[in-house]
Amino acid sequence: MSQSSSFVRSTWSNRWAFVLVTIGSAVGLGNIWRFSYLAGSSGGSAFVLVYLLCVALIGLPLLMAEILIGRRGRGNPVQAMLNTAEETGNSPWWALVGWVGMLGALLILSYYSVVSGWIADYLYQAVVGVRVETAAAAEQGFRDLADDPVRMGFWHTVVLTLSVGVVARGVVAGIEAASRIMMPILFLILVLLTLWGCVVGDMPAALHFMFDFKAEALTPGVVLAAMGHAFFSLSLGMGAIMVYGSYLDKKTSIGQTSLWVVGASTLVGLLSGMAIFSLTFGYGLAPAAGPGLILQTLPLAFAHMPGGRLVAIFFFLFVLFAAWTSAISLVEPFVSWLTERYGIRRVQAAWGTWAPVWLLGLAVCLSFNHWAEFTIAGLNLFDALDQFASKIMMPLSGLAIAIYVGWMMGKALVREEVQLRGGAFPLWFLVLRYVAPLGIVLVFCHNLGWTPW
Ligand code: PFF
Repeated sequence: MSQSSSFVRSTWSNRWAFVLVTIGSAVGLGNIWRFSYLAGSSGGSAFVLVYLLCVALIGLPLLMAEILIGRRGRGNPVQAMLNTAEETGNSPWWALVGWVGMLGALLILSYYSVVSGWIADYLYQAVVGVRVETAAAAEQGFRDLADDPVRMGFWHTVVLTLSVGVVARGVVAGIEAASRIMMPILFLILVLLTLWGCVVGDMPAALHFMFDFKAEALTPGVVLAAMGHAFFSLSLGMGAIMVYGSYLDKKTSIGQTSLWVVGASTLVGLLSGMAIFSLTFGYGLAPAAGPGLILQTLPLAFAHMPGGRLVAIFFFLFVLFAAWTSAISLVEPFVSWLTERYGIRRVQAAWGTWAPVWLLGLAVCLSFNHWAEFTIAGLNLFDALDQFASKIMMPLSGLAIAIYVGWMMGKALVREEVQLRGGAFPLWFLVLRYVAPLGIVLVFCHNLGWTPW
């Protein structure tokens, strides 16, 4: 008997609730902060176009596969893999996929919470009325924050505690309620910022930067970074989607839901990119500024905008909400495993998870200043964690999921669970079986210097 069947599992209150929380997980700092900073430092369009291709050919089919495993397996990521492996006569070793996901999620959470803390700090600055008038002041403002581990550590603690607090309250009450309110408003603010980018920024330059195809910019490193970001922005391979899928009822269409999630995540990324780059070029800033890009660009725009202080408050507030709903989904896989595996109470499991992540996050805060000299493969701890998670763990876990659902679970069972109508099933299955795994393997090979074309 499966371990989790002795638990009454919560389910989302309705289909829209699931769409909303999954969008809540997908849409976050990845689409706003990470997308613009990586696109900016990877030459713009090459990164953006490969990213879009990876989202369509790898991200969407994998998102569906991950929801499918969660719903069929009805358990935390490890248990869902064990349950489906048992049902389909596969090796229990497949549970490793769940393990990699859960632990990877905690690694991501440690620095995700630090970056969310930056946003919280900027929200505080907007509330107390800090204004930056010049590009140099905006750059200095970010440098001051990055140089101050205590300030970063403080906000990291606040954000992590808030995220774990929601998970401690429980899935439906905590996670669903939070997403329901926050996501629609964030979207409206982004539209407003993009329009503002058209008014005061240089939107044509932003569009050229993001969409003009430049073949020479397509280096292996850019391709891998773009693929990694497709995984990151859709929360793939880390057990988050799987665990949310495990609370999903049988009637909801996995295909339609996934389209909504991919659409929302991509749209938010593109809107953020257009807003941020039009302002970056409009103010003569450097798109390749690195992780601080949005924090060096937007405050300047807010300072020159009528009602800018209010817009800034709303913007940082809602980015923080978006980050929060994603952070929650990074905590949930491990907490659900602890509660289901050991029968620990949710509250205890949540706070037990808080402690190690908090400590690692403090080390991340120090990696920008006092510990900047300490490097792993030439990267500081922050970059090392981000690159290891997005360029290695997520794609490998995604590859395993594609192989598992595409080749191991059995076509009949997969067809029954995914409930795609007409030609959609054969198309999805084909992409999942061949295109997605081959794509991931080719990008890896290309990066190791082996290019078959
Ligand atoms: N998708 C989130 C974002 O774009 O901000 C980040 C994320 C959440 C990654 C959950 C992985 C995950 F499991």
